[in-house]
Amino acid sequence: MSTIYFTSSSLDGYIVDDQGSLVWLTSRDVDPAGPFGYQAFSQSVGALVMGATTYEWVVNDRPGGWPYPQPTWVLTHRPQILRPNHPVQTFAGDVAELHPLLVQVAGYKDVWVVGGGDTAAQFVHAGLVDELVVSYAPCTLGSGGRLLPTKSEWSLIESTVNRDFVCARWRRAVG
Ligand SMILES: NC(=O)c1ccc[n+]([C@@H]2O[C@H](COP(=O)([O-])OP(=O)(O)OC[C@H]3O[C@@H](n4cnc5c(N)ncnc54)[C@H](OP(=O)(O)O)[C@@H]3O)[C@@H](O)[C@H]2O)c1
Repeated sequence: MSTIYFTSSSLDGYIVDDQGSLVWLTSRDVDPAGPFGYQAFSQSVGALVMGATTYEWVVNDRPGGWPYPQPTWVLTHRPQILRPNHPVQTFAGDVAELHPLLVQVAGYKDVWVVGGGDTAAQFVHAGLVDELVVSYAPCTLGSGGRLLPTKSEWSLIESTVNRDFVCARWRRAVG
């Protein structure tokens, strides 16, 4: 029922380092079944949308089958990057035109804006993201891909700790 940008970040607001690596993130201790964990979140998701760069990272990081059971859209001008065995669809253009379809397909579940920052910023800029959920790893990167490269305002709903991570949920500020 909500559109959620759910991601992880360094303390200085980067979601990937300047070498394209997520080792700074994946090497940390987290309980997937714990608070703000991926396990419960993934059960609430009915549709996914991600940018082409994130899609390529998923492909390179997880060779083999497509990891997500939910219907997925990849934003790209290069549909040829899709692997033939991946059950994903592509979209190019204004994300506001895609969003009603994502909501419809998700049904009573949520739409997950997987990222990266470029993709999330388009949805946020268009006023389409209801919630921002970020798990912060205990490091800074100094440079890399940014968490959310647009101006936006949020109201904090809850925050907690999951092992190495400080996690928080914000709702889009009204007005
Ligand atoms: N920390 C985390 O949990 C996390 C989560 C997600 C992603 N990441 C990382 O973030 C990095 C990618 O982030 P990013 O912001 O650089 O890129 P991104 O949002 O994943 O992808 C950007 C690309 O998607 C395509 N695109 C975006 N909007 C489009 C639109 N409206 N219509 C058509 N095509 C569109 C464009 O590629 P083309 O025009 O070339 O097709 C654009 O260059 C990856 O390295 C990934 O590993 C980290």
